[in-house]
Amino acid sequence: MRHTLLCALAILSVLPASGAFAEEKPAPIALTLDVSKAGPTIDRHIFGQFAEHLGEGIYGGIWVGKDSSIPNTRGIRNDVVAALKDLHVPNVRWPGGCFADEYHWRRGIGPERKPSMNANWGGVIEPNTFGTDEFFDFIGQIGSEAYVSVNVGSGTPGEAAEWMEYMTADKADGIGAERAKNGHEAPYKVAFVGLGNESWDCGGAMTPDFYVDLMKLHARFVRNYNPAQTMSRIAVGPSGGDTPYTEAVMKAWKDHSWAWNIEGLSLHSYTTGGGFPVSQNSADFGEKEYAVILKDTLGMEDLVKKHGAIMDKYDPEKKIALVVDEWGAWYAATPGTNPGFLMQQNTQRDAVLAALNLNIFARHADRVRMANIAQMINVLQAMIITDKDKMLLTPTYHVFHMYVPFQDATFIPVNFDAGSYAYGGVTLPRVDAIAAKGKDGKTWVAITNIDPEKPATFDLSAAGLKAGKAVGQTLTAAKITSANTFDKPNTVSPKPVTVKASGGHFAITVAPASVTVVSLEQ
Ligand code: AHR
Repeated sequence: MRHTLLCALAILSVLPASGAFAEEKPAPIALTLDVSKAGPTIDRHIFGQFAEHLGEGIYGGIWVGKDSSIPNTRGIRNDVVAALKDLHVPNVRWPGGCFADEYHWRRGIGPERKPSMNANWGGVIEPNTFGTDEFFDFIGQIGSEAYVSVNVGSGTPGEAAEWMEYMTADKADGIGAERAKNGHEAPYKVAFVGLGNESWDCGGAMTPDFYVDLMKLHARFVRNYNPAQTMSRIAVGPSGGDTPYTEAVMKAWKDHSWAWNIEGLSLHSYTTGGGFPVSQNSADFGEKEYAVILKDTLGMEDLVKKHGAIMDKYDPEKKIALVVDEWGAWYAATPGTNPGFLMQQNTQRDAVLAALNLNIFARHADRVRMANIAQMINVLQAMIITDKDKMLLTPTYHVFHMYVPFQDATFIPVNFDAGSYAYGGVTLPRVDAIAAKGKDGKTWVAITNIDPEKPATFDLSAAGLKAGKAVGQTLTAAKITSANTFDKPNTVSPKPVTVKASGGHFAITVAPASVTVVSLEQ
């Protein structure tokens, strides 16, 4: 018996590496770019950020105060500003979130600030040290635009209108003069104004019809007085797949009179892998949880289609943008932290998650013209984590950085067989990709390999494109749980990627659970 087995093994060892006994090398995935069918512009505003007065999102994360030993410019930390400048952050949504519907702006201007309670987030004292003028100083330092959410829930249209006057009116105007007295003579530019936040829940638990009436008052009276800036008004829209707000706001808009208008409808959808209260661990998870979270996040595609179809019914010309102004992963708070501060770790899984969502927004660029990841610093799926004087860039930061060339780029359709990856009863596409013609004239391709076990090899080609080389970066990690820490801040960071070019084809192999961005150049 033993002899027979040895003979069989000897025969196998001399067989050529083909046929039933050899491990088959999978054929490369053909990824073709249809350069002749250029699509809409991928609005740079889909790369927007969200900074709420929540935990250490503002205090500690942005604001350290003028007297801090942490290097700062007028109280705003220099390391954070430098990192954010590199992201070309197009807009920052502020001051909330749920916080916005309890924010009274007058407490946050002038030499005397009146503290308040942050009842939504940890019940801590909000010192109001970071107010309107500090926010505009911050976005000025990082080179971004303002997306200000006014208080519709516990404020009045008059309070919101006066805030707009403070921000945008000439100094000859009584309230504009207050701003000038506080150190800023020129009116600020407010590119976007949010008319409330989650009015179906923390913003006041309003019925859609009640909200629509309040929203119209705000859309009418919350005026922009600065002719140097057009301002888009964004109404509260749906939570996840719920459609009553989408229907009510869009129907009202279709019949709107000259007296009011809006330019955007908000959608909020978080990736939790199981609804609320959240329970998934941000740092310590296995392949099952990896698959569950990414399956959940890919649901964004259906949400955009679902709400987009309702919007098409009332607005076939797509005048109103779908603004996904809260998205990202929301996990259980890091043990030992204040649960009201929503602090969580950010891993390679989150890099993949970010890329998949950005790809969805790009594919629906005709309707999704703005989005804001929640949130910018120290909160939920953050770009940056700080601890006193220390700062680190998360894997999500690196994805946003690698995707900068897609800002205002022209979408190029791509064809590929996404295949499938399955684990523990959860099935997902194995890979994802988008392409675009950048404002720099280069053709950019982003590839995500969802499969955490197997690399993927692609054969990229584009008929009619004169390109002889491809260069780019890839974000890979040893494990799906790999993260950057203050001790090892560069565990997950982009590396140059090798692409073999030959006869108009580009061969590229990407690692498991990775995000890669390359440009095809002459
Ligand atoms: O981003 C955290 C919170 O999530 C926001 O304040 C709120 O709008 C949403 O429920």
